[in-house]
Amino acid sequence: MKKTAIIYSFNTKKTGKIAEQIKQAFEDDSIELVNAEDINEEIFMSYEQLVLGVPTWFDGELPNYWDEFVPALEDLDLKNKKIALYGLGDQKNYPENFQDGMGLMAEILEAQGAEIVGFTSSEGYSFERSRALRGDQFVGLAIDYENQGSMNKTRIPAWVAELKKQFN
Ligand SMILES: Cc1cc2nc3c(=O)[nH]c(=O)nc-3n(C[C@H](O)[C@H](O)[C@H](O)COP(=O)(O)O)c2cc1C
Repeated sequence: MKKTAIIYSFNTKKTGKIAEQIKQAFEDDSIELVNAEDINEEIFMSYEQLVLGVPTWFDGELPNYWDEFVPALEDLDLKNKKIALYGLGDQKNYPENFQDGMGLMAEILEAQGAEIVGFTSSEGYSFERSRALRGDQFVGLAIDYENQGSMNKTRIPAWVAELKKQFN
């Protein structure tokens, strides 16, 4: 596989756990786990394919570590990058902003030319609004650890099976 990283904050528990499960499902030791809190443009650009872990915080916003990297992202040419997103959100407590951070990140990356892969069906979720929706699909894998944690073990392998077809 081309040089591939899963980038997420090593200080998160849930986002981190999902990153490990995604790596496991890929069954490919060459995939690198990279700390979002340590990245810079050079590190980000050194990967051809990326999986980004993006929990939503602050009522529809990115967590600080991603927010701080956005100005750098907005200067990058991402035309040859394939990027898959997984988001963490809570549809019960934040039904008006469910997974907005993942949607926001997708918009930023697409504006720089990145190809976002790994859209998923929004069937089986219950919420009012989400910036991560395109029609009836999410722009990535929507994880709701708080309310649908038991579905992680089916959602993650199904998503990675799709990504394996997109990544090469
Ligand atoms: C202060 C706060 C604000 C949150 N805002 C949102 C939100 O707007 N939308 C959403 O879907 N989830 C929201 N969440 C839920 C988190 O995304 C969820 O708890 C997630 O599992 C956090 O993952 P992490 O601990 O790995 O960062 C919020 C959680 C907290 C504590």
